[in-house]
Amino acid sequence: MSRPAKRVAVMISGRGSNMGALVEAAKAPGFPGTIALVLSNKPDAGGLEAAREEGIEAVAIDQKAYASRAEHEEAVAEAIEAAGCEIVCLAGYMRLLTPAFVQRFKGRMINIHPSLLPLFPGLDTHQRALDAGMRVHGCTVHFVTEEMDEGPIIAQAVIPVRPGDNAQNLATRLLGAEHHLYPHALRLVLDGRARMEGERAVIDMEEADGAAMLVSPQAS
Ligand code: GAR
Repeated sequence: MSRPAKRVAVMISGRGSNMGALVEAAKAPGFPGTIALVLSNKPDAGGLEAAREEGIEAVAIDQKAYASRAEHEEAVAEAIEAAGCEIVCLAGYMRLLTPAFVQRFKGRMINIHPSLLPLFPGLDTHQRALDAGMRVHGCTVHFVTEEMDEGPIIAQAVIPVRPGDNAQNLATRLLGAEHHLYPHALRLVLDGRARMEGERAVIDMEEADGAAMLVSPQAS
């Protein structure tokens, strides 16, 4: 008997292409989750309108309207819980989270980051990968912990760095890999096949190969 799909909230700050990839993936029959809510800290985030066009509740909770980060996060957390969402996906959500918010969703909140963590946390990941002379670049989906871009790793995808690449085309090619990886990782979490135990991510043996995703140059 199939279990009911878990409700998922996606938090964005911008165009929301990863959110769009999650929405597309969740349309597949049998996908174990439904994207029930899209939230942005920025009212002008392009992804909000895209989500509404898909018939998904999409709300801006403007950080500027709150006196403190904690008050803003309280409103965000209440919206997530009011929508009955159990799982939270950060998808280009570019605001640091307080420990209290992280604790509230511990083991249930995941993030995608455009580098092979623990390399290159933070910003400008593509230029930093180029500057370091990397032959591969990639993206990581991880559980969110109190340290930015540092939580236990669920899945990673790797793309080649080609001669002549610049930060912009590397970012574009990596985004294609992100769109493959994030739905895959979300599915693992929704199914309980990847989970946080203590401070580590545990993944079922039969999923381990798929969680290390080599995206072929053609696909990326
Ligand atoms: C994505 O590349 C995502 O990995 C990155 O922001 C972009 C959002 O694009 N996230 C981070 O840098 C988080 N540290 P999108 O809005 O089109 O999904």
